[in-house]
Amino acid sequence: MHDDIEKVLLDEQQIIAGIDKVAKQVTEAYRGTEFTVVSVLKGSCVFASDLIRRMPIPLELAFVSASSYGDGTTSGQLDLNFFPAEGEIRGKRLLLVDDILDTGKTLSRLKGELMKRGAAEVRSCVFLDKPARRAVEYDADFRAFEVEDLFVVGYGLDFAGRYRNLPYVGSLKKEAYAGLVDG
Ligand code: XMP
Repeated sequence: MHDDIEKVLLDEQQIIAGIDKVAKQVTEAYRGTEFTVVSVLKGSCVFASDLIRRMPIPLELAFVSASSYGDGTTSGQLDLNFFPAEGEIRGKRLLLVDDILDTGKTLSRLKGELMKRGAAEVRSCVFLDKPARRAVEYDADFRAFEVEDLFVVGYGLDFAGRYRNLPYVGSLKKEAYAGLVDG
């Protein structure tokens, strides 16, 4: 797996330092209030689990799933499912946690859907932000890192379902794309 990586963009130490910083910001923003972290599956599972363990305040945890079907490296049609039960949404302050904010379509649709289902507030915290790719007007309230417009994998992010378990964030070699797309 490591052999498929062209360049490491964020190593494990950089990732932990960035998460420590954003976790402090989120902690201060929510201190003294009740809120629920809503992890967007599958990509955010690694980030969300590191993030919440650095937030020493009461919180609840829920999950939602967003899948986009494109050609592997660009967003395509979006499927949202696996929503929390109504009682976990209605009147609640929710913090969506996602791996990457790219075009903005996933988080803006999820926010709209959760507000429609009665959430009192929906904010977001993303591991990576690619502002150059934004297609809809949406900004995260908190982000750990801004990255250039490059398809990245690792630390929860996948290509064709693989590489989520890499402990760092990197770009893929061309051969790795070709191998998985063609075969
Ligand atoms: P949108 O465009 O809705 O995208 O903001 C969010 C989802 O698109 C996927 N995505 C990526 N996945 N490397 C990945 O592994 C990337 O560079 C990348 N850019 C977008 C991801 O699933 C994210 O939740």
